Parts: sequence; C-alpha cells; structure tokens
Amino acid sequence: MVEKLKIAIDGPASAGKSTVAKILAKKLNYIYCDTGAMYRTLTYMALKENAISDENHLVKLLDQAKITFEQRVDGQHVFLNNQDVTEVIRQTDVTNNVSAVSAFPKVREELVKRQQEIAKEGAIVMDGRDIGTAVLPLAEVKFFLVASVEERAMRRYKENLSKNIETNFETLKQEIERRDYLDTTRKVSPLTQAKDAKLIDTTGLNIQEVVVKMLEYIQSLSVLK
Ligand code: DC
Repeated sequence: MVEKLKIAIDGPASAGKSTVAKILAKKLNYIYCDTGAMYRTLTYMALKENAISDENHLVKLLDQAKITFEQRVDGQHVFLNNQDVTEVIRQTDVTNNVSAVSAFPKVREELVKRQQEIAKEGAIVMDGRDIGTAVLPLAEVKFFLVASVEERAMRRYKENLSKNIETNFETLKQEIERRDYLDTTRKVSPLTQAKDAKLIDTTGLNIQEVVVKMLEYIQSLSVLK
C-alpha cells in the first residue's frame, strides 16, 4: 500500500466517523486527528468565560490555546495547554454549543490552518465536517459517512448507557437533528459531501463492516496502483 496518504472522513454527528477513523489509522499505522475535538476544546474554554457568541473573544482564546493529541494505551487523549480535556469536551453543554462556536469564520480560519499543519506530512486519517471540502481538498482518499437519525441517536444512547449515563432517546435525536441543521446550513464550509468522496451509509452496518468497506475502497483506488 502506498504510504503517507491523506484520508478525509466527513459526515454528520454520530455517524461513526471517529470510531472507524481510529481503527483505520491503527491498521494503516497512520496518525489520527479528531478535528471535532479542537472545536470542542475551544467551546469548553468559551463556556467557562461566557464567550460562546463573541467571535473576537473566541479568536483571543484560540491564541492562548495549544491543542495537542497524544496516543495512549487507552486511546487518544486531547490536551489544552498540557491539561487533559479528553473527557470534559464530551460533556453535554459542550456538545450543545459546539456547532454555534464552529460556525464563526475566524474560528474556522484558525483551526483549519492548524489542521492543515498537522496533516502536512500525510499518513493521516482526519475526521470532521469539512475535511474533504476545505481542510484537505486534495486528499487522495475521501469518505462521507451517513446513517439515519434514529440509528445515530441509538448509538449515542447505548454509548451513554455503557458509561452509566441515563439519557432520553428522543432528546438525543432532537440534539442530533439540531446539530445536523446547524452544521449543514452555516455560511462557511458547511457539512457537505465532497464531489470525489465515497459515500457509505452505515445504517444497519456494524463497525467492522464499515471498516472492511473502507479498506476495500482504499485498495481499489487507482492512486495506489
Ligand atoms: O465530530 P464532533 O461531534 O466531535 O464535532 C463537534 C462539532 O464541531 C460539530 O457539530 C461541528 C464542528 N466541527 C466542524 O465544524 N468542523 C470539523 N471539521 C469538525 C467538527
């Protein structure tokens, strides 16, 4: 297999992007970059300062924020100025405000720049909403993962249960629908399938089946021959 490919994975909330991206990165021995975690980290900082609607303040917060990733035995950890924020950026208040924060053009400009820097060398699997369209438009491999809202809410529901978090299925569904709406209708690089992205509907598929489809597609690409 040709080395140092850039693999872009986009799609709506809870379509399983990060789960399969991590597995793919491990199988290929590539770096994995979770771009959503970067928007979440900024949202976490902004919530503490009551600044989620103030674009200039958000940019100032980003100036002070060194966001890094580290691969550990128990998975990838996210650090904000060397503080481990892996868990706190998954909290509901962050999840419910991150789409609004990520819609600001100056926020995107700065984070896209950082993401492009991380991906410079290739050999990377990057997931998000605009990787194939804006961050890595020249990526050799692009995927767009989708799944029905019901299935995505059910996956979230089960994931929460496994962490002993009791949630309401209907509320989860509404939250996902709201994020879909905000992510697809924002002015700057809204969530959309890149023309050259491979669409995979993961509804009814398990993780392994999705990974197999992705690997088959990567192997079928002429760029690798
Ligand atoms: O993948 P996630 O759920 O952790 O992403 C959180 C939010 O961040 C998502 O609702 C929209 C935003 N996001 C984005 O705008 N662009 C990206 N490349 C990644 C995430």
